[in-house]
Amino acid sequence: MSVPPIVPDANKATKAPTMKTDSPKGDNHPKSQTSRRVEPSAHFRAKARIKSHDEYLRLYNESLESPETFWKSQTRDLVFRTPSRKFLEWDSPHAKFFVGATLNITESCLDRHLATEARNRAAIVWEGEPGDVRTLTYLELHHEVVKLTAALADLGVAAGDRVAIYMGMVPEAAIAMLACARLGAPHSVIFGGFSADALRDRINDCEAKVLITQDGAYRRGAIVPLKKMADAALLETPSVQHAVVLSRIGRSGSEVSPAEMKPGRDIWWHELLSREPSLANKEMADAPNAFDAEHPLFILYTSGSTGKPKGVLHTTAGYLAGVHVSTNAVFDIRDSDLYWCTADVGWVTGHSYIVYGPMSVGASCMMYEGAPNFPDPGRFWQIIERHGVTILYTAPTAIRAFIRWGDEFPKRHNLGSLRLLGSVGEPINPEVWQWYHRVIGASQCPVVDTWWQTETGSIMLTTLPAASGSKPGSTGLPMFGVEPDVVDADGRSVKAGEGGRLIIKHPWPSMARTLWGDDERFRQTYFNVVPNVYFTGDGAKRDEDGYYWVTGRIDDVLNIAGHRIGTAEVESAFVSHPAIAEAAAVGRPDELKGSALVVFVTLKQGAAPSGQLRDELKAHIEKEIGKFARPDEIRFAEGLPKTRSGKIMRRLLKEIAAGATAMKGDTSTLEDFSVVAQLQAAQEP
Ligand code: WT7
Repeated sequence: MSVPPIVPDANKATKAPTMKTDSPKGDNHPKSQTSRRVEPSAHFRAKARIKSHDEYLRLYNESLESPETFWKSQTRDLVFRTPSRKFLEWDSPHAKFFVGATLNITESCLDRHLATEARNRAAIVWEGEPGDVRTLTYLELHHEVVKLTAALADLGVAAGDRVAIYMGMVPEAAIAMLACARLGAPHSVIFGGFSADALRDRINDCEAKVLITQDGAYRRGAIVPLKKMADAALLETPSVQHAVVLSRIGRSGSEVSPAEMKPGRDIWWHELLSREPSLANKEMADAPNAFDAEHPLFILYTSGSTGKPKGVLHTTAGYLAGVHVSTNAVFDIRDSDLYWCTADVGWVTGHSYIVYGPMSVGASCMMYEGAPNFPDPGRFWQIIERHGVTILYTAPTAIRAFIRWGDEFPKRHNLGSLRLLGSVGEPINPEVWQWYHRVIGASQCPVVDTWWQTETGSIMLTTLPAASGSKPGSTGLPMFGVEPDVVDADGRSVKAGEGGRLIIKHPWPSMARTLWGDDERFRQTYFNVVPNVYFTGDGAKRDEDGYYWVTGRIDDVLNIAGHRIGTAEVESAFVSHPAIAEAAAVGRPDELKGSALVVFVTLKQGAAPSGQLRDELKAHIEKEIGKFARPDEIRFAEGLPKTRSGKIMRRLLKEIAAGATAMKGDTSTLEDFSVVAQLQAAQEP
């Protein structure tokens, strides 16, 4: 069978109208640059699973023409209890994949490896920031997950109940996720960089029954007091009955654990696991239940265009299929590899490419707790040398920081074990790509740039490392089963080389199923720009060779140092401060972070601009959202430029933030011109 097109005529447009001014410019990549390809070495190619562009094309075409056959053969290693009756049911915007199948996802990620050589292979090689190392084999990981599954069930967690996870980068974060999945309890991991308020809001939105956290996490030599922040959040989370607390600080250091335990609510992880579980729960954990293919696996909050974060819901079988197939194709992991994705488990990259994808293929995964520049900027390279990492998957913002810190740090270490490099999270500019390729990969390792999103679940655009050759700065070609397009404001395909909106025309197995508790917002956000077609929120162009060049967000979402931040979220946090009347958040190009966060504010009567207020506002954002959302610049203004209908003119503010002196574009709809001059003059004191 084949996937029914969402809009059969979306691709039929022949004449491309000119782009509207708010769309991304497609002219920032000159032709000479878009045609240059870097081909993998013959040596790399010889050992790869997918060895040529033709082989990629054959599989890609099969994935579109006979998806059922394609996905069946590519997921044959996965464990299903009941096979599916049907590949897809699509009732826009709702997709069901592998209809009728039942499975327990952890059997694919853990149990199946116990019958193979993977049994005693390292599943996780973990290094703490202080330098402590722990290795968990698949057998040991399975054992820990089974124990926690039974213990959570004893605490009253049942299939369908939500569990919040607020942890740092410790193996137990992966154990907690897998135990929830084994139990059928959707997890919601909240990044450890979020503040107590942000944690509280996310817990309340998904009404989590249990919170799993830790006393503290090591970061840049200091301790992030996770339990203390969790305690503040838990003052206002009526759904939470228990907090399970891992002792990370208390155990590894000589210090006394800083966490205060609330009797009846809080329990130490190690104490919980030392209890003998009930027989029924022990049996359930050993031989877990199978769940429907569409059983909710996790909710992951991400930023959108309103102040309220979106709870992206992923379900079981389609998500597993997506991350499994892409992990095999993109990273081509072998038994001898040590694969390292440097993302945090609190973001989707950590879910898909630290936990579910790699474990579904039995990979050995490196995991590191701390900062890349602790105790010095050579830490990543030291880890690669120490453990023999072979595949590195990291973000452009990190690579740019490495470039700034200087080549001497990577040069001090033997990086000869590396054979493949990956990039994710934001566009990687060609110069940064070249540095990564040359300095980290010794010009020997293919670099795969992977474009995808929290909502897509798995990698959507990339060049398979031995198949098609990379074009530095381009995110490459569509992954299996993915049919993207670039369209204008009316939903018509634009010509090669022209900029437009990046859409995906057909449903794919790992796509988000809805937004938790807000299905209407799901439809409005993603399936409305072009009716019934998935809109990514990104601008892109496609070149003559079919390679995609993603230019960045064209909605109200910013990408600051690889972190996704909603402008509305920042603005509503600002106006919750008593001194602020109005706020407008925009991005400004930044060499290191990609975008820096600039916020224009007007003050209420009685408040006056000052350095002190500016510091206070930065601290306020840190409390409302988290440290990573601290604005780089706050600019006080007497009024914000608005259209006659009252819309803030963001495009103008962006130009002002970027330091433009003469206004580009049309300003005739400005309500008050004097405001523009005033804003340009409003500099940091
Ligand atoms: C947004 C999604 C995908 C996991 C990490 C971020 C941007 C992501 C790339 C890339 C250009 C990229 C897009 C996208 N993005 N990867 N390779 N090239 N842009 O997940 O927080 O959901 O953010 O990140 O703008 O829409 P996320």
